[in-house]
Amino acid sequence: MYILYIPFLLGSIPLAFGQTTAQFQPKPGVFPATGDDTIAGGIFCIPLSDLSKYDANTPPSATGTESPKAPGAVTSGSGPYPAAMLTDAGLPKHTIYAPKTPPANVSLPFLSWANGACMTDGSQYRNFLTEIASYGYVIAADGPPTGSTGGQSKVQDSRDSIDWAMKGGAAKYGQIDTTKIASAGHSCGGLEAMSVAYHDTRVKLMILFDIAIFQDEKRYLLQELKSPVAWFVGGPKDMGYINSEKDYGLLPTGLPAYWASLDTGHLGTYAATNGGKFGKAAVAYLEWQFRGNTTAQAICQDAKAPGSLVSDNWNVTYKNWA
Ligand SMILES: *[C@@H]1O[C@H](CO)[C@@H](O)[C@H](O)[C@H]1NC(C)=O
Ligand SMILES: *[C@@H]1O[C@H](CO)[C@@H](O)[C@H](O)[C@H]1NC(C)=O
Ligand SMILES: *[C@@H]1O[C@H](CO)[C@@H](O)[C@H](O)[C@H]1NC(C)=O
Repeated sequence: MYILYIPFLLGSIPLAFGQTTAQFQPKPGVFPATGDDTIAGGIFCIPLSDLSKYDANTPPSATGTESPKAPGAVTSGSGPYPAAMLTDAGLPKHTIYAPKTPPANVSLPFLSWANGACMTDGSQYRNFLTEIASYGYVIAADGPPTGSTGGQSKVQDSRDSIDWAMKGGAAKYGQIDTTKIASAGHSCGGLEAMSVAYHDTRVKLMILFDIAIFQDEKRYLLQELKSPVAWFVGGPKDMGYINSEKDYGLLPTGLPAYWASLDTGHLGTYAATNGGKFGKAAVAYLEWQFRGNTTAQAICQDAKAPGSLVSDNWNVTYKNWA
């Protein structure tokens, strides 16, 4: 899943929209206006070239008892609205996942998605993202579906997706509910999702997969988060495990949070058919949060509910929800 990081452009050119030419330096009490940074993943991230300093005990390639045993099949998802991977001329640096036929009976929440390693290949999480879309969601993933464009995505790439949805760009896929916008991503992309949600009140949910803040000195930034946070991590072998436990404990008082962990290591089950157990968990969390679906809520919160995440071998913790 990891590609070589080519540190070009670092700090050399003034970038658009609040981005600076110097890498963000954390300092208690210093809260940048936006989550943009010169490095991929934004203010919550580290340079990919520094990764080995932080994850010596949790190599990205580690797997677990719940890791997929074989590559998954491409489907239209298991939900009521068969979905597909698409391109859209209105958002050419991205890949769209949406129901094949615009649903007439539901409005569609919108997700911006950032890939592991902040890769610019929007097809890398096809099985997982198609599964979510099939429940009536429109998703824009960073990068076209034709393979990496080289380099890494930046916070602005996720913001471009949200701007596009807010301006009606996704209307051809159905009735988009712009009050229900989530930012989500895997690994470096999860930190990009945090960074784009930071100080952007349009983002109502942050969903972080197999990742959390690496550096203790950056955790004070958590105090600025305003929307509920969920982590889905891969057990003790995942670089996101310990860090997400730390972040969970340092959120602003009263902020709703959800945390679940399955023994997969860092790579989850995204590549399994319909995204495997991570696909099911993401759908249940979104259906609970954005549609008030009480069956989905029980799957997330109630260990004894039929098909609960706990019965699927997830460890689950949550706070500040009824
Ligand atoms: C909307 O219609 C589809 C069939 O087109 C159906 O499967 C689905 O359950 C309906 N959803 C709701 C919320 O009524
Ligand atoms: C679940 O929790 C148990 C008890 O704390 C721990 O031993 C185990 O490693 C955890 N598994 C995952 C996948 O987080
Ligand atoms: C409620 O959520 C469950 C579990 O995620 C899902 O299977 C079901 O289709 C959802 N129900 C409706 C009416 O959308």
